[in-house]
Amino acid sequence: MKKRYKTTTRLVHGPDHSAKWDFSHHVTPPLSSSTTYRLDCAQRGARGFQEFGNFVSDAGETPVYVYDRLDEPTRSILESELAEVEGGDACVTFASGMAGISATLGSVLELGDEIIAHPVLYGCTHSLLTNWMPRQGVCVERIDMNDLDALCGRIGDATRILYFETPTNPTLELVDIQALRRLADEYNKKRAPERRLLIVVDNTFATPFAQRPIEHGADIVVHSLTKNLGGFGTEVGGAVICPKRMLSQLLLYRKDFGGILSSKSAWAIMVYGLPTLPLRLKRQQYTADLVARWLEGNSVVRRVVYPGLDSFPQRELAETQMRDFDGDFAPGNMIYFEVDETKIDALELVDRIAREAYSLTLAVSLGHTKTLIEIPGSMTHSVYADAPPKAIRISIGLESPSDIIRDLDEAIEDVRRDDANNREPWKREALPPRNGEASREPRPRVVT
Ligand SMILES: Cc1ncc(COP(=O)(O)O)c(C=O)c1O
Repeated sequence: MKKRYKTTTRLVHGPDHSAKWDFSHHVTPPLSSSTTYRLDCAQRGARGFQEFGNFVSDAGETPVYVYDRLDEPTRSILESELAEVEGGDACVTFASGMAGISATLGSVLELGDEIIAHPVLYGCTHSLLTNWMPRQGVCVERIDMNDLDALCGRIGDATRILYFETPTNPTLELVDIQALRRLADEYNKKRAPERRLLIVVDNTFATPFAQRPIEHGADIVVHSLTKNLGGFGTEVGGAVICPKRMLSQLLLYRKDFGGILSSKSAWAIMVYGLPTLPLRLKRQQYTADLVARWLEGNSVVRRVVYPGLDSFPQRELAETQMRDFDGDFAPGNMIYFEVDETKIDALELVDRIAREAYSLTLAVSLGHTKTLIEIPGSMTHSVYADAPPKAIRISIGLESPSDIIRDLDEAIEDVRRDDANNREPWKREALPPRNGEASREPRPRVVT
């Protein structure tokens, strides 16, 4: 029945029935908050341990809950919703995105196995692969996932995982998931099922609203729920969406390594984050498009990367891969840009924004109600020795687009190095006046 309804509606209502909780009397799913569960008899306790790790469908029998770190109802309902919205069989949530990513790698890879990852990744994922995986006897290779020839030359019997983000954090490069599916299928023809080459995609930037990698052939999708899925910047969490055959191993891993998502965070993500995801993303995307176009037209900006721009180098792939629940092109809410250093100092610009721009906040993280700006090269991606030191990343929030553009414009005008005569009044005239102001006052030029 539920399948008749659009994803947007299903995200608002969640499962209409679940063996995991009584839905007859609650409109909002309840927040369970118990570390341990009453076991009517020893047999029930034994059953809980025996059955732990098995797949439980919403239509199935109520599971025996034993202890929060094993499984619990609120988290479990969120997991059903995340699996469904990503088009996967099952989902396991974690304490953070990094806990989910490390559990994915830890539950698949054994001593001597190899992972091939795209060169550009979120800084901590890069650190996990560079600093920790080799210590556990896992070989890590970094190859451009869009260079299929280089990949073919490198994949060997030990290679178990192809790992990437698309769009990448922070450069917004895309990876063609379908092309990698075809490649992995060729290798898997000669492999035993338990040694299959797996495609793991970090879908944090796009969210399932803008891209569902399993539809394009990914085996596993990982998420930082801390970002747009949580959506309000109040919860830290992670999720792994996987095929049924991998669920048990991931649940056992989470049980023993212990990185569980708290039920309180699961509840907030389920009750506030998921139902508002399409609404927030549509709005953020609309604003991101306006801001990206405005930046592209500004003479101090050297390069803007946003999948919705005509100048985006992988525009065709973006249009194929990034689609919302209604099938419309969904380029997301992240922008990456570089300024012309002869005209403006990026650090000075960001400092000016941090001091005075009300609608933009200098902070790491992304997918917030508030627009966040940062310099990945010296912040989130400082572990990369060769990261561009002054490129800027913006995560667009829910503010009015004209306020964000005006704050950016004022910051640029205040700190630009070139002469005031070179400024572009035609562009500034198009901007809305500040609250209560009939027109923009000319401001003194800052001499640098
Ligand atoms: C693409 C991506 N993946 C994973 C993570 C890690 O998520 P968390 O901070 O929830 O551990 C981040 C965090 O910024 C990220 O941007």
